[in-house]
Amino acid sequence: MNLTDRPRRLRRDGIREMVSETDVEASDLIAPVFVDATTDERVPIETMPGHERVPISDAVARVEEVLETGVEAVMLFGIPESKDERGSRAWAEDGVVQEATRRVTAETDAYVITDVCLCEYTDHGHCGVLENHAEEDARLTVKNDETLDLLGKIAVSHAEAGADMVAPSGMMDGMVGAIRESLDDAAFSDVPIMSYAAKYESAFYGPFRDAADGAPAFGDRRHYQMDPANRREAIREVELDAEQGADVLMVKPALPYLDIVADLRDEFDHPIAAYNVSGEYAMLHAASEKGWLDLEEVALESLVSIKRAGADLILTYFAEDIADVL
Ligand code: PBG
Repeated sequence: MNLTDRPRRLRRDGIREMVSETDVEASDLIAPVFVDATTDERVPIETMPGHERVPISDAVARVEEVLETGVEAVMLFGIPESKDERGSRAWAEDGVVQEATRRVTAETDAYVITDVCLCEYTDHGHCGVLENHAEEDARLTVKNDETLDLLGKIAVSHAEAGADMVAPSGMMDGMVGAIRESLDDAAFSDVPIMSYAAKYESAFYGPFRDAADGAPAFGDRRHYQMDPANRREAIREVELDAEQGADVLMVKPALPYLDIVADLRDEFDHPIAAYNVSGEYAMLHAASEKGWLDLEEVALESLVSIKRAGADLILTYFAEDIADVL
């Protein structure tokens, strides 16, 4: 037998690192942070071990913990003190995300990205204004165009508070264009938009919905988030966001959708982000608690895989832990 090509030659220590194709660095990671206006103390999030909802008064301290690990960017989510049918606390000047953003941008060097959506702010938990609200049945639909005006107002209120970037996650058609126009009209043409461009209707969001208290009170999000069965549709969907001026294109969830990440990498020259969501985090934690997996190794392998598929940025609840070991 004459084997001329032996890939194993390059797998030894010494050369292995030098020929490695993919690197995960702390500066690729964005850490989600939950700020809760209903509490004066930190509240552990049971389904996401190691994560907490923090009161507004602790937002700066929480972000400083993130920065200490080498992670430079955070994504802020808010739990408001009260909810209503239209989610009006989402664009309040003294709202939870606005208040936290003001403090964090004034007192730290973190790059602050804010989630722009209504589901944590509406009493029904949907990502927009509802039709047939009284009936609370399966015919419920989120009214697309009426929701766009509200998303524009939310984005501007975040920018006024100092947000460096806004990230609309509601999957309304035209949301990126509407937000771009609102930001530009309010003289925030320098604030970029990271669109949750291909966001699937996924059961992997379960733990987050506990964390952020944003589960729909009835019905589901199938009529606005994407069908997990669809791959080609992601290109059409993302193309629209790119045309409307999205600066960064996100795929969500990450691991079960790496084909989509790879497709977007091929089709677009924009930076691609992937959201390694709460369920992806929770399942690795659960298995490691049982002693079935090594948490640090599977977490790092997950992030390497997401980058290898083509992501430039990763939103992940592992950000701090992994940055610490990099
Ligand atoms: C809000 C939003 C959700 C997530 C991020 N932004 C929940 C949802 O769409 O139901 C999920 C994040 C995660 O699971 O980690 N629209």
